[in-house]
Amino acid sequence: MNIIVLNGSPHGQKGITAQYTQYLEIKFSEYNFETIEISRKINRLEKNEKYLVSIINKMVEADVITWAFPVYTMLVPSQLKLFIELLFKQNAQELLQGKIATGISSSANFYDHTAHNYMHEISSDLGLRYVRGFSAEMNDILSKKGQNNFLGFAKDFFWKVNENDIIEDRIISKIDWKSTDMHSIEIPKKITKTGNKKIVIVSDADVEDQNLIKMIRLFENQVSHPVEIIELGNTKIKGGCIGCLKCGDGDACFYKDEYADAFSKVRKADIVIYAGAIKDRYYSARFKKFIDRYFSNGHRNVLSAGLLGHIVSGPLNQIANMRETLEAHIEVSHCHRLGIVSDDNLDAKMIGKHINNMVKTVEHWVANEEWTTGQTFLGVGGHKVFRDLVYHYRGVMTADYKFYKEKKLLDFPTRNFSQRLFGFLLLTMKKIFKLKLKPKEMNEQRLKPFKNLLAKEQLAINN
Ligand SMILES: Cc1cc2nc3c(=O)[nH]c(=O)nc-3n(C[C@H](O)[C@H](O)[C@H](O)COP(=O)(O)O)c2cc1C
Repeated sequence: MNIIVLNGSPHGQKGITAQYTQYLEIKFSEYNFETIEISRKINRLEKNEKYLVSIINKMVEADVITWAFPVYTMLVPSQLKLFIELLFKQNAQELLQGKIATGISSSANFYDHTAHNYMHEISSDLGLRYVRGFSAEMNDILSKKGQNNFLGFAKDFFWKVNENDIIEDRIISKIDWKSTDMHSIEIPKKITKTGNKKIVIVSDADVEDQNLIKMIRLFENQVSHPVEIIELGNTKIKGGCIGCLKCGDGDACFYKDEYADAFSKVRKADIVIYAGAIKDRYYSARFKKFIDRYFSNGHRNVLSAGLLGHIVSGPLNQIANMRETLEAHIEVSHCHRLGIVSDDNLDAKMIGKHINNMVKTVEHWVANEEWTTGQTFLGVGGHKVFRDLVYHYRGVMTADYKFYKEKKLLDFPTRNFSQRLFGFLLLTMKKIFKLKLKPKEMNEQRLKPFKNLLAKEQLAINN
């Protein structure tokens, strides 16, 4: 069996992900593995079409395609994203039809599922038959249990390849989308900027993204606060994050380019909007490059903004996975949700209305003490993973650790001493006195602080 491993880690063979694929090479020596460094060779792949075609040919000749990637900001590294865009540009899907593929990732298990969903989706768009991949926490194969699980996955995968049946229960629907014509929507005159909030829009719009440009302009002209637009097309960003961790102690990113300036505007803004057009099933690789470079701030939520939103051009309603990452982005940033507006509505007027609603949300939020939407699992779960990671790697992520300590983000349940004492006493009493809690009493105890709060509020109103 000839297996081609497409390695999307900027660390190449010195990365954690490659340790997993090397482990497979040792354990399955009866198969032929060939690894191609995608992220490390991305500049050559982008500039040299012959080289790109030679890699596509290797994919075609292989029996099995394995995507190997670290999770980068809820998806794959921008370098791998660019490779995927290049494959579609070359119409590689015409050659790859029916091949079997899978994905192997390493990460901290923070939004690894969205990265795997994305790889499943684009593999399907490329005509590949995709077997559910393996998402390893970085250290998984260092334990016997982790090794066993990883080998189990691999054996299962090779069995499916030999059966020539991927035995999958998930079907990815093809995207069926035609851009809505927004010509009929007129752009109103820019209103005088009487507000004092700083709005920054990070725009990935190219000239052909007419709807995106229009949606941005509609927002900019109607909102009463000054707007600054950062055009990614005119911002020189030399490369995607390579995970060198030079920034771990709080030092500047090793790249010397225009990213730092652009990001400092985002960081200081009161309201931030990301605006981009969908390329395959996510924002473009260029936009992803900007997003990944945020890692120079580690896991610190450094935005001043209280309000965060997205303006998207493309079939967002058909890509639930992308929508989830955008919602998560807002929650993980601890911002109020400005909204996620896209032009995938068939009615151009409705798109205009949604942008207008975004403007109204800004005005209403500013006038109403700038509150924050309650978090769901996306934000709460995300915070707990980050918190544990930062604590675990505090010797490396020193700047993160300092930040988390200062902001009291190391909120482990074990640090809530009264809760711990209460739990301990209750447990001890249950053990010693064979105490059984009665459901009715238990519920009354549970409601007590709420009843107190309601009584206090009622009293305040009555007085
Ligand atoms: C820019 C950047 C973004 C990252 N984003 C995520 C993430 O969203 N979720 C996660 O679990 N880990 C994330 N990580 C951690 C990597 O996925 C993890 O360290 C991985 O094992 C690195 O693999 P490699 O050494 O093969 O590159 C990120 C790392 C970097 C450098």
